[in-house]
Amino acid sequence: YVIGIDIGTSGLKSIVVNKSGEVVDSHSISYKTEHPKSGYSEMDPDVWYEATLDSLRHLLNKFDRQSISGISFSGQMHGLVVIDEDGNSIRPAILWNDTRTSQEVEDIKQAVGLETLLKHTQNTVLEGFTLPKLIWLKNHEPENYNKIHKFMLPKDYVVYKLTGNVHTEPSDAAGTIMYNIKSEAWSLELLNQLNIDSNICPEVIGSHESSGVLTDRIREKLNIDWEINVYQGGADNACGALGSGITDETKQLVSIGTSGVALSIENSPNYENDGNMHYFSHCVPNQKYVMGVTLSAGYSLEWLKQLINTSEDFNVFLKDISQSKIGSNGLMYTPYLLGERTPYNDASIRGSFIGLDANTTQLDMKRSVLEGITYSINESIEIMRNKDIDIKEIVSIGGGAKNEEWLQIQADIFNVPITTRTEEQGPAYGAAMLAAMGEQWFDSFDDMNESWIKYRGKVSPVSSHSESYHKLFNIYKLIYTATQPIT
Ligand code: XUL
Repeated sequence: YVIGIDIGTSGLKSIVVNKSGEVVDSHSISYKTEHPKSGYSEMDPDVWYEATLDSLRHLLNKFDRQSISGISFSGQMHGLVVIDEDGNSIRPAILWNDTRTSQEVEDIKQAVGLETLLKHTQNTVLEGFTLPKLIWLKNHEPENYNKIHKFMLPKDYVVYKLTGNVHTEPSDAAGTIMYNIKSEAWSLELLNQLNIDSNICPEVIGSHESSGVLTDRIREKLNIDWEINVYQGGADNACGALGSGITDETKQLVSIGTSGVALSIENSPNYENDGNMHYFSHCVPNQKYVMGVTLSAGYSLEWLKQLINTSEDFNVFLKDISQSKIGSNGLMYTPYLLGERTPYNDASIRGSFIGLDANTTQLDMKRSVLEGITYSINESIEIMRNKDIDIKEIVSIGGGAKNEEWLQIQADIFNVPITTRTEEQGPAYGAAMLAAMGEQWFDSFDDMNESWIKYRGKVSPVSSHSESYHKLFNIYKLIYTATQPIT
């Protein structure tokens, strides 16, 4: 068996996968991010480490223990974790959905210029990315900055705690905006220009390459007496794509977790990014992808659940939403609770409910939140279509794939058939695949896809629904500009 562990924003999910690609066990642990100030999103990285140990303890006890041979990870992207000379975490990690760095983003653009950023990293800089977080630390907590021995990404910290070795890999290095995804190396010119010592960058190894074995101390903690290999793992969106069989341009991915993502493989050597979409390295060697991000996707539903004061399970919460019609009886929602990435790259915009009526019900509100999240992801899909990406079929994963009604809404709004995976486990499955490749269970990623990735039937768009949604989507797109002066 191999174990795939996804270090998410709201929880950690671990799965055990056998040689046929079947998920034979899983374990989930929830945790909460801290918001010490408005726009801040932080977490003690040792919470991820402890949750990993708890999950491993739980899963290892249920198996013929020695049959587990490899572990790999998927992790939330962009988060800044910093450790000192002694290997201790210096301060809480600053997460991908933290927007405190608007000034630093401006400063970097001023100092370097968009053209140079695109040349050196193929991306523009945004509040959520790692680079401005590092510069924020330099500006606001110089005593912490000066202690930095290495920075790393969330999953890399856990891998380091398990193996004692500090590495990262291309799919997470790309999201730092300090890494040149074309030459596949840290961008020394950019680091130089911004006075960042390149020694604090971790060494980059392949996503399915070995980062080491569990240390003696960890084996003692887990009470095991054999070796377990640890493979570096990948960014959650890259692992979500790998676990959905997205390794070429024939299908695109929509992933709805705390954030929402539309992703398409883009391997053309001539592709030039203009900064409107992210353009990152995949966790499959030599592959790249373009991606648009909705910051508050599942997070919008969590927010609504809290507002309505319920802890209902997702499908219970969304029960009966078909009773509210297409267009939620005139109610429209924009999911900008924490600002928005694609296509606005605006950390200060805030969300809205528009069209409230004396007869608006909770069901209308729930449906309009689903529709608003889906419109927002459709804005990324529209950019892809404008870049001549032929979207024939989308694989939907995460929360959006767990509800039949929402799958139909996605098919209707994206106006394309939607497929789901039979072993839908989100990015944790991609992490397990990286471990399986590390263990050399397959000769190539293609062989593994062929043998492991299976899909359910398709949900097709209904043309009258798509027409109605097309009109509504055009109205949705007007809301950003109309509400922007409020903030
Ligand atoms: C991607 C992004 C999010 C996180 C969520 O750019 O910021 O999707 O990876 O875990």
